[in-house]
Amino acid sequence: MERHSENPSTDQLDSENELSEHFEATIARDRRIEPRDWMPEGYRKTMIRQIAQHAHSEIIGMQPEGNWITRAPSLRRKAILLAKVQDEAGHGMYLYSAAETLGAGRAGLTRMLITGRQKYSSIFNYPTLSYADVGVIGWLVDGAAICNQVPLCRSSYGPYARAMVRICKEESFHQRQGYELLLTMMRGTAGQRAMVQESVDRFWWPSLMMFGPPDDQSPNTERSMAWGIKRHTNDELRQRFVDMTVPQAGKLGVTLPDPGLRWNADRGHYDFGEVDWAEFRAVVGGAGPCNAERIARRRAAHQEGEWVREAAMAHAAKNHDDPERGGAAAEAAR
Ligand SMILES: [Fe+2]
Ligand SMILES: [Fe+2]
Repeated sequence: MERHSENPSTDQLDSENELSEHFEATIARDRRIEPRDWMPEGYRKTMIRQIAQHAHSEIIGMQPEGNWITRAPSLRRKAILLAKVQDEAGHGMYLYSAAETLGAGRAGLTRMLITGRQKYSSIFNYPTLSYADVGVIGWLVDGAAICNQVPLCRSSYGPYARAMVRICKEESFHQRQGYELLLTMMRGTAGQRAMVQESVDRFWWPSLMMFGPPDDQSPNTERSMAWGIKRHTNDELRQRFVDMTVPQAGKLGVTLPDPGLRWNADRGHYDFGEVDWAEFRAVVGGAGPCNAERIARRRAAHQEGEWVREAAMAHAAKNHDDPERGGAAAEAAR
């Protein structure tokens, strides 16, 4: 980790002012802030909140698609879906580890999630009603996640930016497997095509909500951009996603449920209709179709895993004390 940082260690800089100037200069030179570096409390808090929300989204995001693992239509589809859902668990793990480097432990963050004090992406509060949802989530939800996350590979906090590089590679696989599943279904029966269209109709608008509120209602955007935590505004990323997705919808042969959607030659972008922000606020506020179910499931999984955590701790403590296993405590005692 040291080689990524060119910052002097804290004891080389004596005053808070110098530390602050050094931090600002690091951001201005587009260099990374590393865990050992001094950072303003506001930066640390913003970073913890963003990484925690992201980690929670990965873990909660396992549930909607996990719902279809036992009912996948073939062994091949089951293997792909299992791998994808496991990737999301891995993304959660990298991100909880990144949060740990800022002093936010995983146990504390899990508590915040299961007591509803920290958020996760609103998209995962919608149900998965048909197998086409697996394809549509890969195409639209992982597609939106890629738009959001590719710029985060250049985020100013080193451990977060590096975690994002690997995550983005895997998200790209997720997006392609979704699109490939949909292409297959669209080549199938009329019933399969209708199933895909019905799923697109349900997921299109919630996917646009994944980029967060409009810029003029996003109080944190300006500071996050100044600190290099965010590289583009919510509206810029939403536009990028629409521009990327409309031609894919055409190729797939589905209609996006927005009568206002059309190419604007003057802007060089697609125009699109207004997202239902009242629905967005309701879902973020806990009133979405599956909020209670998602949290209850996560809480139950945490409780059911209690004995595993206890056993792992006991095992680690035993190894630590056992000279045969060369534990640190044993070394010290020798
Ligand atoms: Fe992910
Ligand atoms: Fe994904």
